[in-house]
Amino acid sequence: MVYSPPMQSPLRIGLIGAGGIGRHLAWQLRPLSEAVLVGVYDANAELTQRAAQELEVTPYDTVDALLQDAQVEAVILATPPHTHYELGLQVLQHGKHLFCEKPLALTVEHCDALLEAARAAQRVLMVGQVLRLFPLFWQSKQWLQEGVIGEPIAVNLQRRGYEIKLFREGWRADPAQSGGVLLEMNVHELDYLRWLLGDFEVVAAQGHQPFAEPNFVQQWSALLRFQNGATATVEASIIDPLGGYTVRIVGTEGALEHTGFSGTIRYKRTDGQEMSLTPEEIGTPEPFLWELRFFVRAVLYGETPPFDGYDGRMAVANAHAVLSKMSL
Ligand SMILES: NC(=O)c1ccc[n+]([C@@H]2O[C@H](COP(=O)([O-])OP(=O)(O)OC[C@H]3O[C@@H](n4cnc5c(N)ncnc54)[C@H](O)[C@@H]3O)[C@@H](O)[C@H]2O)c1
Repeated sequence: MVYSPPMQSPLRIGLIGAGGIGRHLAWQLRPLSEAVLVGVYDANAELTQRAAQELEVTPYDTVDALLQDAQVEAVILATPPHTHYELGLQVLQHGKHLFCEKPLALTVEHCDALLEAARAAQRVLMVGQVLRLFPLFWQSKQWLQEGVIGEPIAVNLQRRGYEIKLFREGWRADPAQSGGVLLEMNVHELDYLRWLLGDFEVVAAQGHQPFAEPNFVQQWSALLRFQNGATATVEASIIDPLGGYTVRIVGTEGALEHTGFSGTIRYKRTDGQEMSLTPEEIGTPEPFLWELRFFVRAVLYGETPPFDGYDGRMAVANAHAVLSKMSL
């Protein structure tokens, strides 16, 4: 973190992109006493007006109007992926701190340019790799750190669902805008695995595109090898109507397993000891509220957030690493 606080609380935030996640993030900001949303801009003027009314903030007619307003100290950027690079650069060059939705950008070069712009402007850049903060994912990392299953040896992660209809609509259907399923969705899984076990190389990958639309991989698998020798097998699908999310980690002293956004996490040790927890028992804050609180506290107090712009960059780099090894 190159940025040196202090700043005045509450941090005054502007929202660029008032679609699904932008408005969700705006509502999650509400309970935070250390931040306040002051304005909104969306390329869709009607949406700007509607969001401004709903959120009781200033509507801006142009992105420049938002960025030139000195009262805006930080920006939540929640526009489609292909816009993150240019808008993100503008935000940082106007001296605003940046919370950018994932993926940070569509190419590693653009990610690096954004990291460099944040460094040059001495502003915080955080990317919304929020999967880490969902309770079962968060707890898996805590248990690994506590060593309850010993040294991790092998991970199996499966994210399966039937999101193909979503990926046939609007910007998500266009690989030039969304980056396809790896950049638009599975950057979450690749970030989570790197958080668990560190940097990795992609040993092999295989993709399938059984349907013409959307025009990118719809089901893929990969074998990853981490620097510490552990391996991960990953399978992701947007064409599996049975769905399901599972993570299994086998270690030298036991194994742990969890489901995705609901369900349970459990471990069993080789000495027979077992434990199981639900998200309610884990009791972590609402993930989107929590990531915004980390961002706000990084800006106001210089606290180190659990993930930052570099993690967003590595998720993009790893998505490209998988794609580069992938045969169809
Ligand atoms: N972290 C998560 O779990 C999560 C969940 C959903 C979406 N996202 C990410 O958030 C981003 C937005 O996704 P969404 O589902 O909210 O999409 P969306 O289509 O619902 O909203 C995007 C909004 O951006 C606006 N927009 C497009 N270009 C713009 C521009 N140049 N300037 C200003 N506004 C512009 C659109 O008019 C639209 O209202 C994507 O990067 C997506 O990957 C993250």
